[in-house]
Amino acid sequence: MYMKLAFKHIEKDFSGLQVIKDFSRDIQDGELVALVGPSGCGKSTLLHIAAGLEKPSKGQFLVDGVPGLGPDPERTLMFQENALYPWLTLAQNVALALEFQKINKRTALREAHAWLEKVNLKGFEDYYPHQVSGGMRQRAALARAFVAHPKTLLLDEPFGALDALTRMTLQDALRTLIREAGPTVLLVTHDVDEALFLADRILVFSARPASVLKEFNLARSEKTHDLSEFAGMRSEILSLLGIHTRNDEAAQNAEPPSNDPSAPSDASASKDETRILEELAA
Ligand SMILES: Nc1ncnc2c1ncn2[C@@H]1O[C@H](COP(=O)(O)OP(=O)(O)OP(=O)(O)O)[C@@H](O)[C@H]1O
Ligand SMILES: [Mg+2]
Repeated sequence: MYMKLAFKHIEKDFSGLQVIKDFSRDIQDGELVALVGPSGCGKSTLLHIAAGLEKPSKGQFLVDGVPGLGPDPERTLMFQENALYPWLTLAQNVALALEFQKINKRTALREAHAWLEKVNLKGFEDYYPHQVSGGMRQRAALARAFVAHPKTLLLDEPFGALDALTRMTLQDALRTLIREAGPTVLLVTHDVDEALFLADRILVFSARPASVLKEFNLARSEKTHDLSEFAGMRSEILSLLGIHTRNDEAAQNAEPPSNDPSAPSDASASKDETRILEELAA
């Protein structure tokens, strides 16, 4: 029905710089796999290979069993920034994705209006990108990513530039759209909670050259933003990324919990994590 992706022993180097080392994974039809890893490790490069924008140096990328060569509107890539053309209205931006596929302008605009309504932008169709907020622009970019019903969505830090609250509402919107449209999704993110909330499976990558350090399977359950049931997995992912949370530090030091009032509180520990993650993302 949808699209199955297969990476077979993919290697990638850019003039001698090895970026991806022997990456093999199958991505099932309709599965959402999140890719997390340190900055510069090669996540976007993997997405570009899947989008047909880069060729692997070795190995094969297969789409439903056949080599996926070159860009294809069935595999839509959504970039983090500059997602919209500033000289087009939101509706024209969304419609463009259909016009590229030779659908006539009137039909394209009608579809664009319908998708803008789905992402809660009814009434803003004729606004230009600079006249709406960052979160609204990303909503419009989501509508544009979905309007042509791609079988595969490749999302590169789609909400990276947004504040935490906006990000959460957009994650909800994205999840609803995915449930309706059912595409196969590869999601690159620096936000471990975003990966836990949205993904069926999370791949944690090493520093460059990227290889998978560990894979986490999450049942497709009814998740909420209260991710406390995934606290153990979250600490493990953060520690694979080189960030120690209080729990695993305590476990490593094997010290009894201290009652020292000057000991850092949970709030400051998580603030620390956020800061380090932001530095990783920079
Ligand atoms: N077209 C290119 N030409 C030369 N080098 C490239 C090219 N694309 C990526 N690289 C290099 O490959 C490495 C991995 O880049 P990539 O963008 O895949 O990292 P990333 O994991 O997405 O990082 P970030 O989390 O910061 O976005 C970097 O060292 C980068 O300089
Ligand atoms: Mg990147």
